[in-house]
Amino acid sequence: MSTVKIVQLSNWHEQIAMIENTAAVVPWSRNNLRSCFNAGYQNFGAMTADGNIVGFIIVQQYLRDEWTIMDVAVAPSFQRQGIGNDLVRQVTAAADLAQAEIILEVRESNQAAQQLYDRAGFNQIGKRKEYYPNSDGSREAAIVMSRKPQSI
Ligand SMILES: CC(C)(COP(=O)(O)OP(=O)(O)OC[C@H]1O[C@@H](n2cnc3c(N)ncnc32)[C@H](O)[C@@H]1OP(=O)(O)O)[C@@H](O)C(=O)NCCC(=O)NCCS
Repeated sequence: MSTVKIVQLSNWHEQIAMIENTAAVVPWSRNNLRSCFNAGYQNFGAMTADGNIVGFIIVQQYLRDEWTIMDVAVAPSFQRQGIGNDLVRQVTAAADLAQAEIILEVRESNQAAQQLYDRAGFNQIGKRKEYYPNSDGSREAAIVMSRKPQSI
């Protein structure tokens, strides 16, 4: 198990764009990521003992009782150490406290993320055809997943 801790990220960190660029199949742009560090979002990071951010999760909270996980990524050299799971569990615990449902979309081919969400209590509720662009110009479906709040 790694020695990272999960912290709330109120401000933008350049490491977020670097993680996204190395981890995601088709990365979000720096500007798009940065625009999520505004009112209406609650974001968390995985921070090492020396203060480096090695993972993040971006949560849109426009509605009190329906949140959206917009993005989650862990730097490749820190993957498979439970950090993605810790980031998602931080959000599910907060959603249970707030009694909020969480919705997200994930690439159909992204079995790693789907398994992560599945284990955190998310269920598939739909599929959006040709939702995501691929780098070769083709498109890929999104699996829509939801997690209802659990009583605490
Ligand atoms: C998805 C992602 C965030 C998972 O982060 P992580 O820190 O490696 O995840 P964890 O170590 O906490 O793994 C939790 C569970 O997720 C699943 N999982 C994670 N990586 C996996 C992989 N490569 N293959 C299969 N399952 C995987 C497993 O069920 C795993 O549990 P296990 O290790 O006990 O088998 C990471 O792979 C990533 O950054 N991917 C690129 C960005 C991305 O796809 N984000 C999702 C956007 S919707």
